Amino acid sequence: MDAHLVEFLGLLLRWLHVIAGIAWIGSSFYFIWLDNSLDAPPPDSDAAKKGVAGELWAVHGGGFYNPQKYAVAPAALPEKLHWFKWEAYTTWLSGTALLVVVYWLRAQTMMIDPAVRELSAWQAVGIGLASMVGSWVIYDLLCRSKLGKNNALLGVIIFGLLTLLAWGLSQTLGGRAAFIHVGTSIGTIMAANVFFVIIPGQRRMVEAMRAGQTPDPIYGKRGKQRSVHNNYFTLPVLFIMISNHYASTYSHPHNWAILALMAAAGVAIRHFFNRRHKGVLAWQYPILAAVLLGVVAWWTAPRVAPLPPVTRPVTFDQVRTIVGQRCVTCHSPVPTFAGLTQPPAGVVLNTPAAITQNAQRIYQQVVVTRIMPLGNVTQATDQERAIIAAWVADGAKGN
Ligand code: HEC
Repeated sequence: MDAHLVEFLGLLLRWLHVIAGIAWIGSSFYFIWLDNSLDAPPPDSDAAKKGVAGELWAVHGGGFYNPQKYAVAPAALPEKLHWFKWEAYTTWLSGTALLVVVYWLRAQTMMIDPAVRELSAWQAVGIGLASMVGSWVIYDLLCRSKLGKNNALLGVIIFGLLTLLAWGLSQTLGGRAAFIHVGTSIGTIMAANVFFVIIPGQRRMVEAMRAGQTPDPIYGKRGKQRSVHNNYFTLPVLFIMISNHYASTYSHPHNWAILALMAAAGVAIRHFFNRRHKGVLAWQYPILAAVLLGVVAWWTAPRVAPLPPVTRPVTFDQVRTIVGQRCVTCHSPVPTFAGLTQPPAGVVLNTPAAITQNAQRIYQQVVVTRIMPLGNVTQATDQERAIIAAWVADGAKGN
């Protein structure tokens, strides 16, 4: 397909994905808040007599709202019942399509890092797909097993297994692809929770009621457990989805541990809000999160890996030659690298002025994070990275 069309498709999918994600997470946060904020109605009130277990009053957008939650279900089913599922499905479908367009179709540059492991494009995509399917299968079995009855222990085990997944992926794929596949694995678990557990459970409850029976509360309980998991997954997943902007995290030598720390901070922050909605101010959680984030900030501070010695001073011509050989296939107004129609990130490096102007960014990408050349497809050597480092250290002068 035409490279520009693929890129534009990526744009549309990303736009849709963000919109659907906001709708999903927004309604999910709202319902968790609602659940946590409900108060039991007075025992002899009309509400209590109809089976309402909790209710609240809220004002929003110029109107007053009075939602009520039934212990199991109302005596008679209303004609019109709103379901919340397409937000989740649309988020997953658009996200997976985006994954295919951005990562799987460009596995060579976007997923494979020869410094981590030499893989074929098919192997990389296979690993990505297997991580998503495998995560769901294992997670679902765990929730259905005896362990599933102990919520705290189950939570710790799920966190441990996902960290193991992050470690495994970090040993096989480039950092950026490793991160995103942890994210798509968790995202798959979240959407599958809705599709395979929460919605079918609700459907059974509704069917039972239509048949004049009392619905089995087990479906509500199971759905609730999965929905609580989804709630705690949210902040870690959202970090992962923006992590590709932060090379200091995914290109770190212990990127899987950075991810685990960020995820733990996200879970702690979420927990604080969940407690707060119940009227408890548990400050230890945001303090813990702040400490974890502080550790990440310190640990990801740039430390330049040792470089081979070079003869100083280096000349600008040496730098120009390196950039000419290693960078301009992608970073020129009309890139010649297959699949690119625009200079990536808008960075052009095909003129001397552009090179001196971008010296700091070049240093950051080539010497500090070593993200560029992307996937080292143009095979820049350590010697060349050392020349660029020396040139920048000496003031990044042009001719
Ligand atoms: C295979 C194509 C390719 C090659 C070769 C390549 N880059 Fe890049 N570069 C990219 C892509 C794609 C991005 C955008 C990455 C992103 O979206 O995070 C990028 C982004 C950048 C950025 C902007 C990063 C930022 O956020 O500030 C700089 C600077 C950069 N490259 C420098 C270089 C230098 C210097 C070289 C040569 C040593 C090089 N690139 C080689 C594909 C390439």
